[in-house]
Amino acid sequence: MDEDSDAFDPSNLPEIDPAGGLDDLLIFGGPETRRRFLQQRAGASAAVTLGPALMGIGTAQAAEAPATPAGGAPAGMASVQFKINGKAHALELDPRVTLLDALRERLNLTGSKKGCDHGQCGACTVLVNGRRINSCLSLAVTHEGDEITTIEGLAKGDELHPVQAAFIEHDGFQCGYCTPGQICSAVALLKEGHAKTDADIREWMSGNLCRCGAYPNIVAAIREAQAKQGGAKGA
Ligand code: FES
Ligand code: FES
Repeated sequence: MDEDSDAFDPSNLPEIDPAGGLDDLLIFGGPETRRRFLQQRAGASAAVTLGPALMGIGTAQAAEAPATPAGGAPAGMASVQFKINGKAHALELDPRVTLLDALRERLNLTGSKKGCDHGQCGACTVLVNGRRINSCLSLAVTHEGDEITTIEGLAKGDELHPVQAAFIEHDGFQCGYCTPGQICSAVALLKEGHAKTDADIREWMSGNLCRCGAYPNIVAAIREAQAKQGGAKGA
């Protein structure tokens, strides 16, 4: 027998996926190696390594989740209780759900907007215990016991919050997409006491972007709200 053909026979090579898929040989060195790798990495560590979306664990786990254990949240879910706009809510959530998604998708509070979903535009700004945060960057389950205020919770009945009224008065918006976040941020800014000059306002509102470029009117609105509150820290 020819020793060379024993050592290397091209016909024995595993086929490479012509469609360009993730080929076992190319990625892991061989099908057996890949199988062993996945067995070793099964479960949570594989999910972390390959990513929830790639693993499809959002749907797979939901389908396979056992019945709710007595007195607790369903497996893979977490319980959280918080107050939103003065009203108590108790939710069972996937621990990966952001506060923004919980507000919009679970509680139908769609005033807070999803612009970038990466903490860069401020459209999702809400107040948590009086402080402004980007709700797209914060996991809902970390807010146990918190008091959260969204744009829907600023007015008192038919009476607009002074910052809301000032935004209307000064045309502090055009398309309005950034406006809930701008207003929540401005409410916190006045409370923080940073708004001493126009430059201060621009600096401390710099986390809230406006694609329409309504910045001069936004600054004017904040100045007016501040004046109406007598320069005092607004609620
Ligand atoms: S959506 Fe949260 S910062 Fe842009
Ligand atoms: S008003 Fe359109 S993005 Fe600000």
